[in-house]
Amino acid sequence: MRQVAVFDAYGTLFDIQALEGSAEAEFPGRGAELVRLWRAKQLEYTWLRSLMGRYEDFWAVTRASLEFACEALDLPLSGPARDRLLEEFLQVPAFPDAPPALSQLRARGVRCCVFSNGTRAMVEAAVSSAGLGAYVDAVLSVDEEVRVYKPHPAAYAYVCRRLGIQPPQALFVSSNGFDVAGAAAYGFPTAWVNRRGLPAERLGATPALVVQDLLQLAAAWV
Ligand code: LAC
Repeated sequence: MRQVAVFDAYGTLFDIQALEGSAEAEFPGRGAELVRLWRAKQLEYTWLRSLMGRYEDFWAVTRASLEFACEALDLPLSGPARDRLLEEFLQVPAFPDAPPALSQLRARGVRCCVFSNGTRAMVEAAVSSAGLGAYVDAVLSVDEEVRVYKPHPAAYAYVCRRLGIQPPQALFVSSNGFDVAGAAAYGFPTAWVNRRGLPAERLGATPALVVQDLLQLAAAWV
């Protein structure tokens, strides 16, 4: 049985769409589109900064992408509203399937690690606010050493270095298609958590496993 699971954070363990409620409270009727554009820009900025060789941490990227999204959608963002929305990222809820799935895997002796673009402070805050702390063996961030974002190969190499493993020894679990592609390109067996029934990315990688949620993953674990 495989002994290590490496989980992506946002979108995989944590439900970013749940931020719509707070966005809606700030901007009635516009919450969903704001969160959609905010997330899309957040990822785009990670890719662009990595290509440019201009790393800025994920907290700063998250703030910049929120500011862009509000301006693009004509939503006036006050300083306090910006801070309130950013704070939400620190307590973004886990998907309901995440705690029982991680608990089941842990009970079977699987080391559960989280590897994210988010800074360690961001991810640790979310892990603890969602009550996942008891199931998580390690939190790893691109911010710690590599300072380049997924799907750069250096990001996945860092996981192996930190955990002292070779890629085939772990299963890399992500709902983000680009992350699955990056991990697979580096040599990890991958599981794509296709929560939203999306088409497969055309990035040259085939996940070893496709599941709808993490409980299906735990049930399929071998
Ligand atoms: C992460 C991004 C992909 O958690 O959401 O690394």
